[in-house]
Amino acid sequence: MCGIVGYVGPQDARDVVLEGLRRLEYRGYDSAGIAVLADGALSTAKKAGKLANLEKVLADRPLPAATTGIGHTRWATHGGPSDANAHPHVSADGSVAVIHNGIIENFAPLRAECEATGIEFASETDTEVAAHLLAAAYREAPEGETRLADAMRAVCRRLEGAFTLVATHVDAPDTLVAARRSSPLVVGIGETDDGAAEYFLGSDVAAFIGHTRNALELGQDQVVEIDRARGVTVTDFHGAPVEPTAYTVDWDAAAAEKGGYDWFMLKEIAEQPQAIADTLLGRLGPNGELALDEVRLSDQELRDVDKIFVVACGTAYHAGLIAKYAIEHWTRIPVEVEVASEFRYRDPVLDRSTLVIVISQSGETMDTLMALRHAKDQKARVLAICNANGSTIPRESDAVLYTYAGPEIAVASTKGFLTQVVACYLVGLFLAQVRGMKFEDEVAAVVDDLRALPDAVASVLAEMEPVRGLARSLAGEDRMLFLGRHVGFPVALEGALKLKELAYIHAEGFAAGELKHGPIAVIDQGTPVVVVVPSPRSRESVHGKVVSNIQEVRARGARTIVIAEEGDDDVVPYADHLIRVPRTPTLLAPVVTTVPLQVLACEIADSRGLDVDQPRNLAKSVTVE
Ligand code: AGP
Repeated sequence: MCGIVGYVGPQDARDVVLEGLRRLEYRGYDSAGIAVLADGALSTAKKAGKLANLEKVLADRPLPAATTGIGHTRWATHGGPSDANAHPHVSADGSVAVIHNGIIENFAPLRAECEATGIEFASETDTEVAAHLLAAAYREAPEGETRLADAMRAVCRRLEGAFTLVATHVDAPDTLVAARRSSPLVVGIGETDDGAAEYFLGSDVAAFIGHTRNALELGQDQVVEIDRARGVTVTDFHGAPVEPTAYTVDWDAAAAEKGGYDWFMLKEIAEQPQAIADTLLGRLGPNGELALDEVRLSDQELRDVDKIFVVACGTAYHAGLIAKYAIEHWTRIPVEVEVASEFRYRDPVLDRSTLVIVISQSGETMDTLMALRHAKDQKARVLAICNANGSTIPRESDAVLYTYAGPEIAVASTKGFLTQVVACYLVGLFLAQVRGMKFEDEVAAVVDDLRALPDAVASVLAEMEPVRGLARSLAGEDRMLFLGRHVGFPVALEGALKLKELAYIHAEGFAAGELKHGPIAVIDQGTPVVVVVPSPRSRESVHGKVVSNIQEVRARGARTIVIAEEGDDDVVPYADHLIRVPRTPTLLAPVVTTVPLQVLACEIADSRGLDVDQPRNLAKSVTVE
């Protein structure tokens, strides 16, 4: 997610905006920019890389002093990190500057419409479309105080997707206009020491908390106009007045960065429904068909695939294990899942008909990058699933499917993981669709199930209080086991990894069927055992076998913590702690069953007084082999 700052007031907008951008640096970004209105002109500066790069540009070529300005830190989605793709984007006639957070899903036809009028685009971004459309809409809007707001409303009515837009116009030097749909935007209302009013806009309150704690919460599909003389006006996209909700920010600056959560990890766990929705956005056609135009492998190349390797590390590797079940079931292509650090040393059999899917949140993991290079040396085709636009792994791959989880600050991956899993489902379905292994209605049925995942995850998150209590009771444990079968097995592995990397507790995940082949020997009185139970509808009574496994460990004194579907009563007699998840199709269940394990590990670590976001010995991106 990008960082957004806006200011209208008596202070020097350059200073206020840059300070706001510094407060938003924690969000992670890959370029930054600023625009100010002064002396009837629009002045902008923007630069790829960190804020320091932009500040260097500004030191060499200062912008003029101004009282109205906007600023942006970009997390690249459409178009890699570059000076040209950095925001603000300016309309062709130089009258409008706009910054944006989100994804304009229908930007391609809108871009074509603009180009048909002779406009030459300066960037690859979806955002630039909004700048050109706003300038045109402004020219067509009736003269008057609300002309820029009218233009914004007209443009917003044409946009699809999730967006926060903030715009300035050279003819309205004391005004900013902004709009939001499914993307954060808050208004700050302040007063200078000498009593002058000043107004702020931010992607979160961290942008202006140093100036004011008086904020306005905006609702869905709303436009806000802030003007030095007229103050704040809020309407819907059709111009009907709306009364925003005023509130006082009682967080300190550090808490504001975490959105009020104690840890970035908790914030990112809570962001998972939106992250999944954003990763699906624009990829599910209106009739349920899939449109993965950015995959950049031809249909014939995908039809030629006769073997798939999924290669990754850590949590991303667990996403690959889940992918195997779905892709093999939907496409009947054999899938091998490999730990990246082992892959190239075992001399795998690869050729032009092999598709290697590399999964990486950061896009910089050296083990995975080296595996990718080996695969390419062997003439295999490489598809990257990645969360960091323009990072090394997608750049060196033949094709990429980005996840849109936004920056993941905590070292332990959560929303990065769930969106990797969802992206793997999309790849599997796309392969099945292209290879004719699934009829359109079958693809559409699974697409409907995917669309339901954000709400399913949100419903799990709403019931996490018992898990927090359970975590406190487990804080003193020195080991835990995690069992699962079928797609629950990789979830067990991920739950164990989360506990290890966050609470430093020895934890082992394994296939529940393996219990009797050795691991059951370690069970004794009070051993905590987490069991991820498959859907009662899973085939070949996998469910029944797991219920038996729970009885086996309980009979040996285990303290059973059971993750099971709502309505699954078979597990009740054997669960010391029962955590319910919503009924979900078998192959998609990991998206909901993983969430309680994320929260459990996070809360246990917190109960042990550990640094949840920066666990010892770990880095967010392991750029060494
Ligand atoms: C996840 O919680 C861990 N921090 C780690 O296993 C991570 O998944 C692994 O290092 C791979 O990172 P990547 O997805 O950025 O390639």
